[in-house]
Amino acid sequence: MSVALLMRILPVAMVLAILPAAAGDGPAQAAQPAPAAAGIAAYAAAPKNSSGVAFHEGGAGLPAYPALARDETPAARAIRLKWYREARFGIFIHWGVYAALAGSWQGKPSGGEWIMNDAKISVADYKAQARNFTASKYDPRAWAQLFDDAGAKYVVITAKHHDGFTLYDSAYSDWNAVKASAAGRDLLQPLADAVRARGLKFGLYYSQSQDWVNPGGGKGRTQAWDDAQKGDFDEYLAKVSVPQVREILQKYHPAYLFFDTEYQMTPERARPFFDLVAGYPALVVNNRLGGGVLGDNATPEQRIATDPMNRQFEVCMTINNTWGYRANDVRWKSARQLIRNLSDIAAKGGNYLLNVGPTAEGVIPQPEVDRLLAMGRWLKTNGEAIYASEAGPFPPTADWGRTTQKTHPDGSTTLYLHVWNWPANGEILLPETAQAPRSGRLLAGGAAAAAEMTEAGLRVTLPGEAPDPDVSVVALEFGGPVLAAPVSP
Ligand code: GLC
Repeated sequence: MSVALLMRILPVAMVLAILPAAAGDGPAQAAQPAPAAAGIAAYAAAPKNSSGVAFHEGGAGLPAYPALARDETPAARAIRLKWYREARFGIFIHWGVYAALAGSWQGKPSGGEWIMNDAKISVADYKAQARNFTASKYDPRAWAQLFDDAGAKYVVITAKHHDGFTLYDSAYSDWNAVKASAAGRDLLQPLADAVRARGLKFGLYYSQSQDWVNPGGGKGRTQAWDDAQKGDFDEYLAKVSVPQVREILQKYHPAYLFFDTEYQMTPERARPFFDLVAGYPALVVNNRLGGGVLGDNATPEQRIATDPMNRQFEVCMTINNTWGYRANDVRWKSARQLIRNLSDIAAKGGNYLLNVGPTAEGVIPQPEVDRLLAMGRWLKTNGEAIYASEAGPFPPTADWGRTTQKTHPDGSTTLYLHVWNWPANGEILLPETAQAPRSGRLLAGGAAAAAEMTEAGLRVTLPGEAPDPDVSVVALEFGGPVLAAPVSP
């Protein structure tokens, strides 16, 4: 791929195909599938440590910088990302001192994890809230069990959010759970252990640029509101942020590192972080470091969007509308919506990182628990259509539902029809299909589904009634690729 072509592709990376993740049960609108040809090849050809190709993530107003990516072969990259691509479903945890305020300040409703900034709470007042961050009911093994029961394959928790508070004892700032809060202990290691004991991967979120408590930390698009915050940003990066990232990598060995908000991150500032993470050959890193660093994925937030560069993408989303615990946000998405979101994202080849916001005591709100368990029940029967699947061969726009597929070593393919709306006549027509499947079955209950080639395409006849009101999955076994005509003997 030529640099000229790349230069046409890369700026497009700023324009994500947007799909609103509205609450409700209706079929979500479809994002355009990523332009396949421009995809993996473009990524593989993305200039390694080169200059001259402008690139940025994270929305309007941020400058574009030369793209910077790990120097590795596409094959090595595929191996590094294998577990992550196959996982498809992860749990995000936003937990910190903000949970103690539960969404209100001085009797007025305010933000969740942004409450310190939203309500312009002084550093001293905010720090005083840490006495109410008790973690007194924190049960990391019960959390890990819930996430496992939900069918998630990885967990990402906020080691430090924008309020600068770390959930572990840091040598670089006393503003942490051990030294400054009622919790008085490391909250990360027991979760890492519990999550790994269940075979799930453990990941960490770290806000590298914004820090509203440690002096000099970034304030995003806002200005400092307390003299105690003032200081030099570069000194903050050198003395707190970079050392803390090194610290969490060394202490907790995360499989995945999720940076957040690229404000003020120039290539020079991003470089020490980049060099640090590049020293961990297995680590998966998201795309929000800034300074032109590509990262391993795109991370559309609160919307189902694919990535025009065809990188792996991960949709992060809340179950209500707030990341951190906020008692007054009860706009819960339905279990059906969440299951369909997972189905929709998998049909486009992405991951779903779904958030929980525990209370200051360490309790995951019951509506979140209920929804996660509903997802787990669905995945127990239908997980085969999600885990390690690839994007379906059909545009993710059909009224009846979505598709994923798996190609097997012998060249055969399993096509999964995720039926959201069971057709009244029991029939689904797959127009471009070039051959009939050898067999078909419902994942729930195993009833056979018949399929025959007609002039209009493959007609699949669904047996009986929808076994699942949310998404019923039909697996069709093909001798070869679904869209290619069979090779005649
Ligand atoms: C944003 C917000 C933040 C949240 C995150 C999750 O960047 O600043 O509060 O942690 O997105 O993706």
